[in-house]
Amino acid sequence: MDKPLILITGGGRGIGAAIALAFAQRGGCRLALSARSTDQLEATAQACEKLGVEARAYPCDVSDPDAVAALAEAVRTAQGEPDTVVNNAGYFLGKPFLELSTEDFDTVIAANLRSAFLVSQAFAPAMAERGQGTLINIASSASRKIFPGMAAYSSAKYGLLGMTRVMRQELMSQGVRVLCILPGPTLTDAWNQSGIDEATLRERLMPAEDVAQAIVNAWELPAKTVVDEIYLQPLSGDL
Ligand SMILES: NC(=O)c1ccc[n+]([C@@H]2O[C@H](COP(=O)([O-])OP(=O)(O)OC[C@H]3O[C@@H](n4cnc5c(N)ncnc54)[C@H](OP(=O)(O)O)[C@@H]3O)[C@@H](O)[C@H]2O)c1
Repeated sequence: MDKPLILITGGGRGIGAAIALAFAQRGGCRLALSARSTDQLEATAQACEKLGVEARAYPCDVSDPDAVAALAEAVRTAQGEPDTVVNNAGYFLGKPFLELSTEDFDTVIAANLRSAFLVSQAFAPAMAERGQGTLINIASSASRKIFPGMAAYSSAKYGLLGMTRVMRQELMSQGVRVLCILPGPTLTDAWNQSGIDEATLRERLMPAEDVAQAIVNAWELPAKTVVDEIYLQPLSGDL
């Protein structure tokens, strides 16, 4: 039997790349990685292959329905049906509510919420038909707590948590596990424009590898058990 196929969106850098590498280090799986930046995707896929795991790159804008349909077709043709989908792709925009344009708002919702909707709808039906599969949605501590300047991001991440909870209720009877990960501040390029100095970020934020480890640990539980939600925070709390 084929090793389980794990599709990770936003797998080119940051938390998504860390998740891919954590699964590759664990072994016993195959990886499908998606994001828009081909060079980053290829680099992550190569790093995973060096660890002995099949990893393929699928450039795709996962907020675009046609692109997601093409992604589903390409993955099925090359590697088969994913056993697990990690909806990790996302985009952070910090801006005061009164300065948010409609375009800003739509871009953030599309990258963080619409993407998970589209990708889950593309792959969950086959999981439900098989009576087995795992969907892992990467939400945020901003799905539970509000921070000034995060109106668009929090709208998307609160929405993602809500959608995930409904998906779990609907899909559990068909054998599909639906997990939600809610990380607090995690050290990735997403913080590059934060204005916070690098030394502080390195000292205070969680390493992406720790978030990835929590995801692999939860995924490894036998299929009859689901870790509904994991809320992760840096030891010293929010910035
Ligand atoms: N870092 C944190 O503190 C933190 C905390 C809580 C939750 N999160 C969540 O964790 C996830 C990963 O965040 P990160 O910090 O690793 O961010 P990151 O370093 O900016 O990486 C984001 C990834 O998502 C991809 N992506 C963004 N928009 C996309 C689109 N429309 N289509 C396809 N891929 C897209 C990016 O690739 P391309 O740009 O090449 O497409 C990239 O690979 C996000 O959902 C984020 O909201 C992060």
